[in-house]
Amino acid sequence: MIAIGCDHAGVEMKKAVIDALKEKGFELKDLGTDGEPCDYPVIAKAVCELVQSGECEKGILICGTGIGMSMTANKFKGIRAALCSDSFSAKYTRLHNDANVMCMGARVLGTGLACELAEIFMTTEFEGGRHKRRIDLITDIENNR
Ligand code: RB5
Repeated sequence: MIAIGCDHAGVEMKKAVIDALKEKGFELKDLGTDGEPCDYPVIAKAVCELVQSGECEKGILICGTGIGMSMTANKFKGIRAALCSDSFSAKYTRLHNDANVMCMGARVLGTGLACELAEIFMTTEFEGGRHKRRIDLITDIENNR
């Protein structure tokens, strides 16, 4: 299950990403907003809590730039949120960073690219190995700063 959410800037992009991922066989839980103006941290919290609890394996967050969502998401323990605008980053943040939340900017990207990036993110596995050591170092900082 994938948790997905957006603020008012990302409603159309979110709908397109949901449709594209459903077509590929993914199940999604939509945490809003459906269109009402809202504060992006509220939506980021709802999505990240589902990823933290394990109810959802990954999350997608969309706001105007993707920046507010990524700043908020990275405040949650265990969340590694990546702001993606290109396919190389969407692929390598899974391979090397084991990112579990992807953020995108609806005022930055076209909808077609957003759908492609979401699919890359969801279908690319973490490589592990030396990258696991680096993730552990991130976790260590998270737990001890
Ligand atoms: C909302 O206008 C906008 O600030 C928000 O979508 C996002 O871009 C914040 O980072």
